[in-house]
Amino acid sequence: MKDRPIGIFDSGVGGLTVFDAISRAYPSESLVYFGDTGRYPYGVRSKGVIVEFSRQIAGFLEDQGCKFIVLACNSASALALEEVASSASVEVIGVIEPGAAAAVAATLSGRVGVIGTEATINSDAYTRALQNLAPRIDVIARPCPLFVALAEEGFAGKPATRSVAEEYLAPFKDDGIDTLVLGCTHYPLLKRDIAAVMGPSVQLVDSATAVAHAVGSRLEERNHHRRSDAHGEYKFYVSDTPGRFQTVGRRFLGREVAPVEVVDLETLHEFGELARTGRRV
Ligand code: DGL
Repeated sequence: MKDRPIGIFDSGVGGLTVFDAISRAYPSESLVYFGDTGRYPYGVRSKGVIVEFSRQIAGFLEDQGCKFIVLACNSASALALEEVASSASVEVIGVIEPGAAAAVAATLSGRVGVIGTEATINSDAYTRALQNLAPRIDVIARPCPLFVALAEEGFAGKPATRSVAEEYLAPFKDDGIDTLVLGCTHYPLLKRDIAAVMGPSVQLVDSATAVAHAVGSRLEERNHHRRSDAHGEYKFYVSDTPGRFQTVGRRFLGREVAPVEVVDLETLHEFGELARTGRRV
């Protein structure tokens, strides 16, 4: 079990922020990443569709021998974690709870903002997770859909990003929050723009870092850590456009994204069928 890889799944390239956080914290762990680039984005989709896609990909990652699976996509974690976990035979870790726990630890005022895709915000998953941990907490959640495209286009630090950030984030300033959860894979890339608008009195909680800590605790609890002198091996799978994944991925990861292999949708459908019928892959 110790030598098996950790599976990381996202709707596309964004989950590489989670990949980055995990690979930096645990360099001896091997990682298998799946980006569903053929069906991206998830953030505007409905629950049924996100559950189906997520189950297919979890099935694929199980078949790769992953010791557990990280649902790096906030939209998938918000809408499909329970369903994926119930059909998978390995443990599935989402990003919402670790992000919420980090925000509860950070806030002093008890007023927390959350930003994410429309799917994530409309699901209320962060609000539920935050209020489960701290029932009296006030949560103000708003979608910031344009941030995803700006991050992918490499617009961090550009004036266009600053003005979109001002437009989206201005209402939070009147809400008196002291903590803002970056509830989307892409937002850590715009951290400086977001911080510049929110000012120093608001702490930003990056769910990528929070989930890397959660992975570490899980490795510890289950004694699944790989030998510390081992070198992690990395493999990337996508459902379409591997070239674009590599180009944009390099920007997200700050290093080469390779090797990348394409998995066709028919194969993914088969894994979905297996998950639905309860048969083992
Ligand atoms: N990965 C998605 C998330 O974290 C953002 C991109 C998308 O909409 O698929 O919610």
